[in-house]
Amino acid sequence: MVADKLKSYIQEPIAYERLTGADVHLDFCRSCESCFSTGKCPADAGDDMGMIKQKMLEADMLFFCSPVYAGSMSATAKAVVDRLAYWCHREELAGKPTAVLVTTSNNHGKETVEDISDTLQYMGVSLAWAGFVCTHDHPNIYLEENMEPELEKVCTALADGWRDPIKFITPKQSLAFRYYARMYNRQRIMNQIFNLKPSAEVLISTEREFMKYKNLQDYVKNLLEKKRAEQSIP
Ligand SMILES: Cc1cc2nc3c(=O)[nH]c(=O)nc-3n(C[C@H](O)[C@H](O)[C@H](O)COP(=O)(O)O)c2cc1C
Repeated sequence: MVADKLKSYIQEPIAYERLTGADVHLDFCRSCESCFSTGKCPADAGDDMGMIKQKMLEADMLFFCSPVYAGSMSATAKAVVDRLAYWCHREELAGKPTAVLVTTSNNHGKETVEDISDTLQYMGVSLAWAGFVCTHDHPNIYLEENMEPELEKVCTALADGWRDPIKFITPKQSLAFRYYARMYNRQRIMNQIFNLKPSAEVLISTEREFMKYKNLQDYVKNLLEKKRAEQSIP
């Protein structure tokens, strides 16, 4: 419904894909830490996570949803988040307009929204909207007319984020960006001094020149300029 309604907010055709736990096969992270050192997850070859990552990187927007199960996000949602954890060190989703929606019968909506939002924000997303619905408190939530006001809020925010992703980047995200940029720069220097092989994280932060930018907003601004130049958008 969000994707359908969003069309009228951004006046462009929208192609969207909905992936649910029922559509995908996902293994859990086994803590081998290859993603941190090599930038690759060995499990990607055996399940759908490689495909999910590709789609997330290519998408102009993300809409991440989970029900509350036993006080937290669902195991499927957590498997996705865990398998993406190393993206927190690479700003892989920098500036990606994103909304987070959690459904719950009656409790842990706020905590679960915060959990998911926080982690995605560390990956760099521009969090335009995040919220939850308690389906017991609002048993008629699934009726289309009852959703209308909420849909409007989500679509307005996502369209805003699409036009100006920098608007939704928070000071906390910028602080994390500078922290990792400095840390990996120190590691890079130590690696040179002691002639050690740099980790994938040091290589990526050097390649993406994180140290050059004073905050995440500047980094995203640069990414947007590059993208516009590639697509020859004036
Ligand atoms: C295994 C499981 C655990 C759940 N745990 C909670 C919970 O801890 N708190 C809660 O409020 N709802 C819980 N729920 C309810 C779901 O959050 C709820 O079914 C989902 O958000 C969709 O809402 P609906 O069933 O009204 O369509 C649980 C549901 C399942 C299947």
